[in-house]
Amino acid sequence: MAYDITINRGTSCRINEIDFENIPFGRVFSDHMFVADYADGEWKDLRIEPFARFEIHPAAMTLHYGQAIFEGMKASKSFDGRPLLMRPEQHSRRLNRSADRMCMPHVPEDLFLQGLRTLIAIDANWIPPQEGSALYIRPYMFAMDEFIGVRPSSTYRFIIFTGPVGPYYPKPVSLLAESKYVRAVNGGTGEAKAAGNYGGALLPAKVAQEKGFDQVMWMDGHEFKYIQEVGTMNIFFVIDGKVITPATDGAILKGITRESIIHILKDKGFEVEEKPLHIDEVVAAYHAGTLQEVFGSGTAAVVAHVSKIQYQDTLIELPPMEERKIGQMVKAEIDGLRSGKTEDKFNWIEEVPTNVFENA
Ligand SMILES: Cc1ncc(COP(=O)(O)O)c(C=O)c1O
Repeated sequence: MAYDITINRGTSCRINEIDFENIPFGRVFSDHMFVADYADGEWKDLRIEPFARFEIHPAAMTLHYGQAIFEGMKASKSFDGRPLLMRPEQHSRRLNRSADRMCMPHVPEDLFLQGLRTLIAIDANWIPPQEGSALYIRPYMFAMDEFIGVRPSSTYRFIIFTGPVGPYYPKPVSLLAESKYVRAVNGGTGEAKAAGNYGGALLPAKVAQEKGFDQVMWMDGHEFKYIQEVGTMNIFFVIDGKVITPATDGAILKGITRESIIHILKDKGFEVEEKPLHIDEVVAAYHAGTLQEVFGSGTAAVVAHVSKIQYQDTLIELPPMEERKIGQMVKAEIDGLRSGKTEDKFNWIEEVPTNVFENA
């Protein structure tokens, strides 16, 4: 179904103020945002409006009880200047799974996609053309009822805003296997992209940084033996040519990059195993000399290589970058899809038509 979206383009455009060669991550926002309000059991007042602050009631339930979920995705420009999205429907579906867990309403997939496409078409000039750069997209939903008391809200707001980001070339990261704090347990909210998960992860991340590590490697909350994720990424290990990633078990976020990587690797004939991954297996592989690569996966970095992992008294040091093949290969593959240079054999890439708004 086609929704009626009111478009208010405003009068000012800030794009000429931006130095696209030097974009600070997460601080620059494009001209417009898509907004929809939920009340009386339906999404209403669908609109594109100039990106701006808005008012929120001090008793808005999201501020107190944390009904707040989000997504993170990217639009890119192909080598010949066409705006591209990669697997946007997967983000819509994950948002709705997060909504289920947090007792929030679904955003219908066609509403999500129409709002997204309209916004990207209008702000297509904000997609940086430089290779590796992208327009970061932040869809999110939060509770709006003005009420003190713990129950699900009956009103919500859904917003999509965007902002250009430069190429992300993280240096290999060092990890501290967590032995005190947990990110998520089975039955908790780890599989949802719920705002509170990120608030709860700040202290352990700070403690790890104070100890000299870049990020936390999250372990299961029962024994601190089974590996879950790293920072805000999923994690992959290459042991003796085989790629292993922890099976999603209810506590791990089902990363869309993770799923894409598994798909690409299997298609290329690699052996990929999803299973509960015990840290002892990684330590044993390290001592046997068969631990070849460790990398995190996520929308922002695509692939972030790991330099070392501290687990209790054992320091696991990974081989130099020149010896790592698989992480670099999948990153190149995904970057190639996002720039339109690699054949889209899985039908993951969608071009956003902009001609609709060229004279609007
Ligand atoms: C906790 C967590 N794990 C993993 C990921 C990677 O997910 P994706 O590949 O969908 O970006 C993210 C980022 O969304 C995350 O926040």
